Amino acid sequence: MNQKVLVFLLPNFLFGILLFGFFCKRQKNLTGAFPDPTEDWLSIQNDRKSTLASVCQKNKLLKLRSKLDSHVANQLFVEPKHKFIYCEVPKVGCSNWKRIIFILQSDFGAEASEIEHDHIHQTSLIKKLASYSPATQKEFLGNYTKVMFTRHPFERLVSAYRDKLLHSEPYYSVTVANQIKAMFRKTNKSSEKVSFQEFVSFILAKPPNSLDIHWKPMFLLCDPCNIHYDILGKYETLGLDSEHVLRVIGAPESLHYPSLKRYGSEKRTNGDITLEYLRQLNSEQIEKIKRLYQMDFLLFNYTMNYEDYFSLNG
Ligand SMILES: *[C@@H]1O[C@H](CO)[C@@H](O)[C@H](O)[C@H]1NC(C)=O
Ligand SMILES: *[C@@H]1O[C@H](CO)[C@@H](O)[C@H](O)[C@H]1NC(C)=O
Ligand SMILES: *[C@@H]1O[C@H](CO)[C@@H](O)[C@H](O)[C@H]1NC(C)=O
Ligand SMILES: *[C@@H]1O[C@H](CO)[C@@H](O)[C@H](O)[C@H]1NC(C)=O
Repeated sequence: MNQKVLVFLLPNFLFGILLFGFFCKRQKNLTGAFPDPTEDWLSIQNDRKSTLASVCQKNKLLKLRSKLDSHVANQLFVEPKHKFIYCEVPKVGCSNWKRIIFILQSDFGAEASEIEHDHIHQTSLIKKLASYSPATQKEFLGNYTKVMFTRHPFERLVSAYRDKLLHSEPYYSVTVANQIKAMFRKTNKSSEKVSFQEFVSFILAKPPNSLDIHWKPMFLLCDPCNIHYDILGKYETLGLDSEHVLRVIGAPESLHYPSLKRYGSEKRTNGDITLEYLRQLNSEQIEKIKRLYQMDFLLFNYTMNYEDYFSLNG
């Protein structure tokens, strides 16, 4: 090659790199100076969806036939006015979502706090997808905004234990508790409450598909590999994700996600409380519950390194 051409091109090349570098830096500055929260939220949603899709594929969780499982249809609540489908995952703020669905479909302008906790779980006023014909189910799944919320599997487990086994809800604190005691106690110590360790042993002794919805793996409840959820919310970002859901489905501007909880005086299950309970388990039990909830960890990008996770998010 002609040396003169090289001498001519080299400075141009270097100048080009300089300009490019400046441009990149400027771009960075621009996004830093004007962060767009909706864009950030959308990009996190895309990350969650692509993680889910690749884990579904890798683990062969995609079904060939498109028939909806009746257990799953029973978890899905429908709000036709706003074309909204919500998958109920207990222990992930579901009572409040059911309150919202009730408010959305009623014209009475009810306040979330006016709706009793027990009422919202028993009421037939909000309809399940399972109550519609198969053709309608298909149409709704094709056209409605579908949403599910998840929570760190271990925090959800501890929350379920505290809520169901430490309070006096007859079915859980008597019937289920007695089953657990019968399985794991040699002598009849009926007055002592079921320990977290006994509770975990009880769960591990059963096939995952037969578990109670409060501790059944989330992916078995909502089948996110085959129902293409439009929004994947997380308990860890509940307020933000809920606001976006409400705006996406066109809820009234004045409607916000309520922050009511059932046992008002008690602390919500947080990282510190979760760690305290997990430390009561032996390493074999920890390994087994990691295996039980493995798909929830992978699909929803939760870390199994729970000591670090909960120490940081305590
Ligand atoms: C980027 O922003 C910083 C301060 O925010 C400023 O000091 C710097 O000069 C900016 N760089 C460019 C290339 O605009
Ligand atoms: C997975 O979670 C980690 C920790 O919360 C986060 O930093 C990372 O961006 C997430 N990855 C995806 C693909 O969502
Ligand atoms: C969506 O709704 C339209 C009209 O209501 C209907 O014709 C169409 O079949 C629906 N889409 C799916 C996937 O069912
Ligand atoms: C334990 O004893 C109580 C009475 O003290 C009794 O009601 C209960 O059925 C017993 N449970 C089992 C599992 O034997």
